[in-house]
Amino acid sequence: MTDVSSRGPAPGDDREVLTNRQGHPVYDNQNQRTVGSRGPATLENYQFLEKISHFDRERIPERVVHARGVTAYGYFEAYGKWGDEPVSRYTRAALFQERGHRTDLAVRFSTVIGGRDSSEAARDPRGFAVKFYTEDGNWDLVGNNLAVFFIRDAIKFPDVIHALKPDPVTFEQQPRRIFDFMSQTPESLHMLVNLFSPRGIPADYRHMQGFGVNTYKWINAEGETKLVKYHWMPKQGVRSMTEEDAANIQADGLGHATKDLYEAVARGDHPEWELLVQMMDDHDHPELDFDPLDDTKVWPEQDFPPKAVGRMVLDRMPDNYFAENEQISFGTGVLVDGLDFSDDKMLVGRTFSYSDTQRHRVGPNYLQLPVNHAKHARVRTNQRDGQMTYHVDGAGENPIVNYEPSITGGLREAQYPTHDEQGPEIKGRLTRMRIARTNDYQQAGQRYLLLEEWERDDLVKNFTDLISQCDRAVQERMVWHFLLAENDLGRRVGEGLGIMPEDVAHLDVLPGQTLTDEDRKRL
Ligand code: HEM
Repeated sequence: MTDVSSRGPAPGDDREVLTNRQGHPVYDNQNQRTVGSRGPATLENYQFLEKISHFDRERIPERVVHARGVTAYGYFEAYGKWGDEPVSRYTRAALFQERGHRTDLAVRFSTVIGGRDSSEAARDPRGFAVKFYTEDGNWDLVGNNLAVFFIRDAIKFPDVIHALKPDPVTFEQQPRRIFDFMSQTPESLHMLVNLFSPRGIPADYRHMQGFGVNTYKWINAEGETKLVKYHWMPKQGVRSMTEEDAANIQADGLGHATKDLYEAVARGDHPEWELLVQMMDDHDHPELDFDPLDDTKVWPEQDFPPKAVGRMVLDRMPDNYFAENEQISFGTGVLVDGLDFSDDKMLVGRTFSYSDTQRHRVGPNYLQLPVNHAKHARVRTNQRDGQMTYHVDGAGENPIVNYEPSITGGLREAQYPTHDEQGPEIKGRLTRMRIARTNDYQQAGQRYLLLEEWERDDLVKNFTDLISQCDRAVQERMVWHFLLAENDLGRRVGEGLGIMPEDVAHLDVLPGQTLTDEDRKRL
């Protein structure tokens, strides 16, 4: 017997009718089909099986890093200039050319290490990924809120992330594992001085900077190239938290930064960032004491002044968390004409990693999804089929020609934008080698000295609290690194740990590490 009381709308109820995914009306969403009111259930119960088996598949793997995040939409408005010069002198990228030209965009802010439901008040870098839906196709600028990174070679990424993530036995994030790895990775010092200072816990997403971190290139209409770095500066200012502030915020909930963004946009307080670009001639700059392709370094602003090229405004939030925040997929390989990669060894590794993980995490047709597809450019490919294909993007007038070349129809190749698409000739031995100018400590020390006094106190306290939980050998090696970066930092953390400079004087240089003359003076 059917429970007649659950059938049909109440008088005057003109809401839309619930259906299943086949478009069939659902007459009873309270009771599955059973033989008699007490069962058994029947297997042909399509409506029930569709509903429950779809639910069983509601989750996709969360991002292996940057799992917790929030997406927002807005636009980028170009200034048309790089400082006083027309931007066209340096890049032909269409989105930058014309003053006032607007490009739709999506941004996803994130934390890195925690899972999808973890705290947004964690000490952790913040992701700052921007997808520009340009007329030439999409451009993704996938950055962080801190200007440098822990490592400079992509082959070390799984290790740095394993050390930072919860341990594989008790699933606890453990300082002894983190600093064990960092103590053997001297290039991480500059990032550590940033991360364990108050900058390591941004107050929220609206009050933080963004940095492309890796080195890219710009190309102009003549095919001339420059090395560039990207920076986002918040018009709202930069605000950070101490451990204590963060603990208080966390006590009230784990998602304060997402909430803050939704609330700001809802009240019309649209956050804004300016995009600045630093530029260098495209060669290896032997005159510098660092390598321009090393993402553990910043480019000194007095020598390479950042110049504003446009602004970004966020004015709309997603309607659906899963479709727009979980499925949005960014990658460093997603560039438009006029923008290019450099040989930065991190950037090359990242460029493989993003689309690889997205084919696994979201599926092989992730670029057909509304949030990912190049909505302001024509997409015409001969890629076909695969899981979850929902449209054919290249059919044109002769849909049987899904190959190229053909004299009977189908798609043709585009023209090169310039005559000269040949890259530089590269010669070198196939090898595995660190870059020559590692200079791991100088900028870390300079960064420490640039901090305000309270920030230095906070940094020393954070290092001391966490490193005191590590094995003695790790503690000694960390004090050795700190002394090399800046005497005051090494002495202060050392004092907190009961380790004097003379206690670490016997330590050898790490395998493969090179010290500059400046470094040696500090030992
Ligand atoms: C996310 C790999 C370094 C910024 C991811 C994801 C992977 C990854 C696999 C997950 C992507 C997804 O599931 O959609 C790597 C590798 C790196 C590296 C292999 C080094 C070789 C960096 C650096 C930055 C960065 C240096 C900052 C400049 C981000 C951001 C996200 C992300 C912002 C989140 C994007 C989003 O919101 O969906 N990375 N990453 N990564 N990475 Fe990296």
